[in-house]
Amino acid sequence: RGAMAEERALALVTCTAPVNIAVIKYWGKRDDDLILPINSSLSVTLHQDQLKTTTTAAASRDFVEDQLWLNGEEADVGHPRLQACLREVRRLARKRRGGSAEDAAPLNLSYKIHIATENNFPTAAGLASSAAGYACLVSALARLYGVEGELSEVARRGSGSACRSMLGGFVQWQRGERTDGRDSLAHQVAPEMHWPELRILILVVSGEKKQVGSTAGMQTSVDTSPLLKHRAEVVVPERLALMIQHIRERDFEGFGQLTMKDSNQFHATCLDTFPPIFYLNDISRHIISLVHRFNAHHRRTKVAYTFDAGPNAVIFTLADTVAEFVEVVRRSFPPATNGDQFLRGLPIGSASLPEELLTAVVMEPVPGAIQYILHTKPGPGPQTVDDASQHLLGADGLPCRRS
Ligand code: DP6
Repeated sequence: RGAMAEERALALVTCTAPVNIAVIKYWGKRDDDLILPINSSLSVTLHQDQLKTTTTAAASRDFVEDQLWLNGEEADVGHPRLQACLREVRRLARKRRGGSAEDAAPLNLSYKIHIATENNFPTAAGLASSAAGYACLVSALARLYGVEGELSEVARRGSGSACRSMLGGFVQWQRGERTDGRDSLAHQVAPEMHWPELRILILVVSGEKKQVGSTAGMQTSVDTSPLLKHRAEVVVPERLALMIQHIRERDFEGFGQLTMKDSNQFHATCLDTFPPIFYLNDISRHIISLVHRFNAHHRRTKVAYTFDAGPNAVIFTLADTVAEFVEVVRRSFPPATNGDQFLRGLPIGSASLPEELLTAVVMEPVPGAIQYILHTKPGPGPQTVDDASQHLLGADGLPCRRS
C-alpha cells in the first residue's frame, strides 16, 4: 500500500479546549432537549496551561463500532448528548459538502469513530469538566469532518455551558428567542488579552463531592423557584449590560461586586428551589466572609468570589493582589499534609502580612479545609494539536499509553 492508502486508512485529529467560569450564571432551561437557557450568561475562559481537556477523534473504514474512552477507561458512546453533538457535526458536514456523493468527500461520514478524551486536572477536584469536555469533542469532530464556522450551537447540545468554552477571553451566551435554538449562540465580548492583569484562583475545598448535578438541579429550580423566574426576566438582562460595560472598562470593583452578587443570587435561587439545593458548605461560607473582610480592610473590592454547583471557590483578583490574598488564605486554612503542593499553576510570589491586616482579616484558622489553590488567568479558546506525540489514539485507532 502506498502513502495515500495509509493516510486514507485512518483520519485522526486532536484538539484541546478550556474550562470557563460564569460571572453571570446560567441556571434553567426553556428547552431541555435543545438546551436553550431561560437567560443569557457571561463567562471568563480559563487558560489551558492550567486546565484543559484533550480529545482525539479518529475515523476509519476499519472500525467496527463507535467507541469512547474517558481518561483511559472505556465509556458509554451512546450517551444522548454525545450522540446529539455527533449528529449535528455530521449534519453540518453534509450541508457543507452540498449533498455531494459521500464517496467524493474528504472523509466518509458513515465510518465508525473512536474518541479518546482526557483532562489535565483531577476529576476529583470537582471542577466542571463537561464544558471543556463537550467543547473539545465538538472541536475535534468538526476538524475531523472539515466543518468550520459557528460551532457553539453544536457544543451547546452537549452541555449548555460548553458553548462558552468555544471562545477565549470574555464570552456571552446569548439566550436567543427562536424555538429551534439557531440564535442561542456564544459570542466573544473581549479577547483574553483585553485585561492582562486579571487573575483567577481556584480554591479546591476538601470533602465529599456528591451533589445534585446541574442538569437535574436547574430543572427543579425552573419548576419551583419564583425567584429564578424573576432573576431570568428582570435581574439578568440588567446585570448583563452592566457586566459587559465593567469588562470593557476593565473596572475591577464593578466587575468583582457584580460577580459576587450574581453568584449569591444563583445560590439564593437554589435555596428557593423546593426541595432546596445546597451547593455551598461551611468552608465556602468561610471563604465568602474572608473575601468581604479582606475588601473591607482595603476599603475597596480587591478580590471577588464566585461558586458554581459545588463548594469550590473561584476568586477573581488582579495580579498585584494575588500574593497577599493567597497568604491570607494560607493563614486561614493552613495546608494539612501536601504543604508542598498547596500552590499550583502560575507562580505566586511571597507576601508578609502587616499585623493589622492579620487581626482584621484572619480569624480562627481551619486546618486542611482547602486542599490546594490553583492560580490561572484568562485564556484562548479551543486549539488544534499538531504534535503527533500528543494524540490519545495510536495508528491502530486505540488508546495509547501515555505517562
Ligand atoms: C452553575 O452547563 O453543566 O455552572 O446545560 O444541563 O449541561 P447543562 O448544565 P451545565 O450548567 C452549568 C451551571 C453553572 C453556571 C454556569 O456555568 O453558567
